Amino acid sequence: MEARALREVCGRYPTGVAVITCLGSEDEEPVGVTVNSFTSVSLDPALVLFCVHRESRALAAVRASGAFAVNILASDQAGLCRAFARRDTAGFSGLPHEPARTGSPVFGDALAFLDCELHSMFPGGDHVIIIGEVVDLGLLREGQPLTFFRSAHPRLEVLA
Ligand SMILES: Cc1cc2nc3c(=O)[nH]c(=O)nc-3n(C[C@H](O)[C@H](O)[C@H](O)COP(=O)(O)O)c2cc1C
Repeated sequence: MEARALREVCGRYPTGVAVITCLGSEDEEPVGVTVNSFTSVSLDPALVLFCVHRESRALAAVRASGAFAVNILASDQAGLCRAFARRDTAGFSGLPHEPARTGSPVFGDALAFLDCELHSMFPGGDHVIIIGEVVDLGLLREGQPLTFFRSAHPRLEVLA
């Protein structure tokens, strides 16, 4: 199985984009990672998941803090998506954010957020599947979502 072929085929499945945020350990800055692997899992109990690379700093941070927040990005947040899709991510200073109930930072200008306590983790090849139990959530503003399809962010044509 060629990795490129797998990427090409999976890239035909359109998704939204989220930044997973988490408190850093000790005095360190919070950690953020851009994902499109976010999905809801269960309503009762309220569970969601995302998949993250085994080497990701976010995995270590979620393990250490036992919590994370999911920030669902709006169509005008492609810059934020890029900023948290690199290992040397932009710092959080200058980005308006507030601590959610678990302490994980939430970006005030995201479309919506879910604040989660770590529920369970499962190995998934070179990634880890992280399941969180939702302890708080909210809608932050109206707007179109940031999409991800074939490595780009096409605009949705029809949305109320
Ligand atoms: C639109 C988009 C979606 C991404 N989705 C994921 C994902 O679901 N899981 C993942 O591990 N990396 C994903 N990445 C790559 C990570 O954002 C990137 O490798 C990471 O920020 C690197 O920093 P880290 O290694 O410190 O975590 C995605 C990148 C982009 C641009």
